[in-house]
Formats: sequence, C-alpha cells, structure tokens
Amino acid sequence: MEHVLIPFLEVYTPIALAIAAFGILYRVGTHAMRLSRPSFPGMATNLLDAPPKLDWFTAVWKAISFPVLRFNVRANPIIVTGVIFYHLGIITISAGYALSLLMMGWHFALGVTTVPDISTGEAISNNFSYSNILAIIAGNGERLQSEYLFGPFATAFRVITWPVVISALFGNTLILFTHLRGRGGAVLNDIDKAAKNIRTAGMFKLSHLLVTFIVYSVIWTEILSRLEIVHGIVYLHAVLGVTLILLLPYTYLFHMLYFPVGAYYAARRWRERYIA
Ligand code: HEM
Repeated sequence: MEHVLIPFLEVYTPIALAIAAFGILYRVGTHAMRLSRPSFPGMATNLLDAPPKLDWFTAVWKAISFPVLRFNVRANPIIVTGVIFYHLGIITISAGYALSLLMMGWHFALGVTTVPDISTGEAISNNFSYSNILAIIAGNGERLQSEYLFGPFATAFRVITWPVVISALFGNTLILFTHLRGRGGAVLNDIDKAAKNIRTAGMFKLSHLLVTFIVYSVIWTEILSRLEIVHGIVYLHAVLGVTLILLLPYTYLFHMLYFPVGAYYAARRWRERYIA
C-alpha cells in the first residue's frame, strides 16, 4: 500500500519550494537595495599610527571565535557546546545532501535514466515523483539510496556519516533543552570581573523552540530510517526537511544560506580594525 505521506509530498513540495524561493528572492533583493546605499567607508585614510589591517584569515577567525570565547562560552556553556556539536553535524549532513544531489545529476549526465523506487524497494524504476526524489536524497544514509548514489563508496558514506548524525543529535538535544527551559540568551556565569554576579534569565522564544523541535525530529527520523526500524519514515523525514526549507527565509534558519555574507561583513569590520 502507498505510504500516506506520498500524495501529501507531491502537493506540499512544489508549494513549499515556491514560497521559499519567493522569500529568498525577497531577502536577497532587500539586501541588494541596501548595498546600493553604502554605509561602510572602510578605515580612515588620515589616521596617525593606524593599526595595520588584519589578513582575511585572521579576520574571519576573529569574527567567528571572538564573541563566542569572550562572551557566549562564559555566559552559557551548555548551549555553546550544543551549537558547536550541532554545527559539526549539520554542516557535514548538508554537504552530504548537496553531494547526493550532485551524484544524481552526475548519473543523469552519464546517461543513467532510472532511479530506485523507495516505496517498493526496487533498484530500477522510472519514479521521478517529488516524493521519490526526496526519499533518495533525504534517505542517502539508507542502503538502497546510498548504493544508487555512491556505488562502491556506499558503505563508506554510511559509516562516515554515523558519528556526524550522533554529533548533531547530541548538540541539538542541548539546544532543545535550553529553549525548553526558556534559557536562550541567558547569562548563567560570570563573564568577566566587570560583569561579576550579573545574571539574566534568558527568554523563551516560540520560533526558536519550534525550529529546534523540527530539527530534533528530523535527526530522529534520519536515525530511525538508517536503522530501518520504521518502514517509510523517510517520507516523514522528507516532509520535515521540506518544512525547514519553507521556513528558511522567514526565520533565523536563513543564516544557513547567508552565513558567508554575515561572516564577510563581520570579518571586514575586524580587518579594517573597526573592532579594536
Ligand atoms: C558563521 C557560521 C554560523 C554561525 C555563527 C551559526 C550560529 C548558529 C547559532 C548561534 C544557532 C543557535 C540558534 C538558537 O537556537 O539559539 C544556530 C542554529 C542553527 N544553525 Fe547555524 N551558524 C552558522 C552556520 C551554519 C551553517 C553553515 C548551517 C548549515 C549548513 C547552519 C545550520 C543551522 C541550523 C539548521 C540551526 C538550527 C538548530 C536548532 O535550532 O535546532 N548554521 N546557528
């Protein structure tokens, strides 16, 4: 019998992708409009004893590590540990999905005209529906899909990505724990001597809890489909994954796409010594 989520995915996927594409264009467009009015003049040219510019590598490292080491890790080590382990996981997992898409394109470029049908378990089919393509990409850690995508490297792909999934689960559990307790942004320890005994309770944000909960569920569906415990759970994985794409431009998830831009501006401020 056809899985109940398959017809849903056929309708939901194109709608969600269209809404996400609109949001991404809107946000990139508003950014482009802001760029037409530059507000960042660079280092003053007539400074006496101007500090030398930083090289790009140092500037990027400072932009990413300085606030974390100087502030976050002291203020709230639990969520920082979570965010670090979670990002080790999600960045590799996202790279795995991108690689899977590339491999699929590569197969087509080489003249392969079939895909496995995940709903029936057949290795060769003409099922190019949204739900099947998503089940191949989202289920790249399962046997049938990984053998189609990576051929002789399938086992290596599955083995290498297991620790990454565990890292994402561990990290995300700490993030979820923090948001459930309404401790996002909390200061739980002394940051430095000047801020001794200063504490803030943090705040509960429904949008963060919701996104984190969806991400948490995605990781569990990934684990259950890899273990091949619950038949067809890869379709739930796909529904949740498409939901995250839908939310991408409208929530803080946008940083998944925009982090190079954010890192560029932050690093440029370091490089020009706007930050001492
Ligand atoms: C400079 C790079 C990045 C920084 C500073 C950064 C920072 C953060 C922070 C602080 C959070 C936690 C938000 C919260 O719940 O309070 C977060 C969440 C998240 N990040 Fe990043 N991130 C970066 C790059 C990326 C990249 C490259 C990806 C994916 C390819 C990514 C995917 C995510 C996802 C999916 C979440 C949601 C996790 C959850 O709430 O369960 N991030 N990021």
